[in-house]
Amino acid sequence: MLTQDEMNKMDAIMQSHEYQQTAVIAILQEVQKEYRYLPEDALCYIAKGLKLSEAKVYGVATFYENFSLEPKGKYVIKCCDGTACHVRGSIPILEEFRKQLGVSEKKPTTDDMLFTVETVSCLGACGLAPVCTVNDVVHAAMTTKKAADLIKQLKEEAANEN
Ligand code: FES
Repeated sequence: MLTQDEMNKMDAIMQSHEYQQTAVIAILQEVQKEYRYLPEDALCYIAKGLKLSEAKVYGVATFYENFSLEPKGKYVIKCCDGTACHVRGSIPILEEFRKQLGVSEKKPTTDDMLFTVETVSCLGACGLAPVCTVNDVVHAAMTTKKAADLIKQLKEEAANEN
């Protein structure tokens, strides 16, 4: 169930795109920014607002890799496992992140909803391999030590915000 506040926010997003059906991707992007994923209720609300079928909006949301229908952590860590990163040792780095956070491929998000660890096939920064991103900020030439330090730093950052 969406709150009135959430509906108002989504109305404002749709309004800024003049309720154009062709802007559905941009609208979903903005809504995802708000929630860090696309809740089912939000998809239904957008479908209604844009006068599109729920199936159509759901289809768009599942087609594009950048959209997520699952809740994600505050910090989304993407570990590149493209060829350049793989040959420079991306797997031990991915394993270090997962070990530090107690997550896995099947359960990528921590219970406190602070971290999600994912893999991607290429972040387009092969010259900086092995690479990971945290909420789209690139971290170059990663090592397992850097991965452990990064988690420590992000945990401190999160604790200071509370
Ligand atoms: S393979 Fe990792 S950035 Fe391209």
